[in-house]
Amino acid sequence: MVAWEAVLIRSLQHVALTVPDLLAGRRFFTTLGLEGRSEGEDIVFRCPGRDQDQLMLIPGERKSLAWVCWGTRASELPDLTARLGSALTDPPAGVPRDGVWFRDPDGVLVNLIAAEPATQRRPAVEINNPGQPFMRLGRRGAPNRAVDSRPRALGHLLKFTTDIDADIRFYVDVLGMKLSDRIGDKLAAFLRCGGDSDHHTLALATSEAPGLHHLSWEMGNLDQLQLCAERMVGAGYQDAWGVGRHIYGSNYFHYVRDPWMGLHEFFWDIDFIPENGAWEVEYAAASPEALSQWATMPAPEDFLRNYEVR
Ligand SMILES: [Fe+2]
Repeated sequence: MVAWEAVLIRSLQHVALTVPDLLAGRRFFTTLGLEGRSEGEDIVFRCPGRDQDQLMLIPGERKSLAWVCWGTRASELPDLTARLGSALTDPPAGVPRDGVWFRDPDGVLVNLIAAEPATQRRPAVEINNPGQPFMRLGRRGAPNRAVDSRPRALGHLLKFTTDIDADIRFYVDVLGMKLSDRIGDKLAAFLRCGGDSDHHTLALATSEAPGLHHLSWEMGNLDQLQLCAERMVGAGYQDAWGVGRHIYGSNYFHYVRDPWMGLHEFFWDIDFIPENGAWEVEYAAASPEALSQWATMPAPEDFLRNYEVR
């Protein structure tokens, strides 16, 4: 029996995707505001002002989720190895990544490394502060369109899964994540990291195959969120859904599609749950109304379609 004081998954580090056209990927994510560098055949992206890899693009036949990398403490890695047993596997060939590699119940490759979340050198994101003192008497409030509207961090991913209950058991019981909220028996679940955490760093949605539904990029405020979405649409990328406000996580959102129909969410003001804070899980009925508190348009019919299915 393994001692259960360990908190294993503490932070989202990066996500790796295979894509069939690296140049198209570089254009999309550069327009989005990320800073890319080449590593061999791959492209690695970071958010400006933050020294943490967030996204790797790897050449492949089609767009698909290659792996997800999480951070923990070095002292917790031996405990993790004991828990994982037969799920442990080798890293992909040629990947100079350390830590522990394993597959989740859907076969999705996961890497857990000893790493803290990187600090942010740009001005702090102010969240959860409605009702703040009125700061703008006698001053114009609309931002200049040229304001810095590049993402601050990769906040979470939503992963398609063929067995949402098995995934929840694995990420909660084995890896120490916590269930924040759930929609329907099978539709969606929201999990957070084991320590202090955003409402969700890993969300799950049922599909006929594993895959990536969306990556979600934290923005500095609502203006920056919408300006980034407009920049993407103005550059020719497909608008998907927004602007709106989710119920589960409470975050404002706007989604756009990448060249392979994958979704990217720009978000701001997500619920934050301290490690030892009280949080009551809500089990919502599965319905379109559960997807948002409000939005400027209904969710598109293909919002939950898995475009990674061939
Ligand atoms: Fe999201």
